[in-house]
Amino acid sequence: MVRYANVYDIPRIKELGSLLHDNFVQVNDLNEMLEDGFSKVLVYEEELEVVGFITATDLGETCDIVSLVVDPRYRNKMVASNLIDYLISELSENLKIITLEVDSNNIAAINLYEKFGFEVVNVRRHYYSNGDDAYLMARES
Ligand SMILES: CC(C)(COP(=O)(O)OP(=O)(O)OC[C@H]1O[C@@H](n2cnc3c(N)ncnc32)[C@H](O)[C@@H]1OP(=O)(O)O)[C@@H](O)C(=O)NCCC(=O)NCCS
Repeated sequence: MVRYANVYDIPRIKELGSLLHDNFVQVNDLNEMLEDGFSKVLVYEEELEVVGFITATDLGETCDIVSLVVDPRYRNKMVASNLIDYLISELSENLKIITLEVDSNNIAAINLYEKFGFEVVNVRRHYYSNGDDAYLMARES
């Protein structure tokens, strides 16, 4: 089940976010995101446990997916797909484009986003600290 996150979910979101990168907690102010009026923070709950989350910056005509992580125990069970579906259903009728950045070696995520109609529109060379390129992906609506 997908639902909006609340303050009690923050420790678990931080735990899952740390799987994405070491400084997830430093660069994502989740308390602020829950209150700023333009961030969307959604969680997927399974038997009262949060097993995945997505965060996005929703500015009406544009939306940027910031983070998406699924607990390794729950991968390949459509959790991420359900989170993206729910996010898209919550976006404005005026939405023109959804964007995101992804490591060019993250095949699972690239496949997932392509399944949702995202295309690579730009490459940022050596963007990540490990030297990997970043793909900027976009989906027009
Ligand atoms: C990428 C990630 C979010 C996918 O979550 P998930 O819940 O397992 O994804 P879903 O079950 O909804 O998969 C949907 C589609 O994604 C693609 N996909 C997912 N896992 C994949 C894998 N290991 N290899 C290749 N494609 C994969 C497939 O196209 C899949 O569709 P299919 O089942 O019809 O083949 C998850 O692997 C994850 O949390 N990874 C670590 C964090 C991360 O990389 N986040 C994204 C970058 S911000």
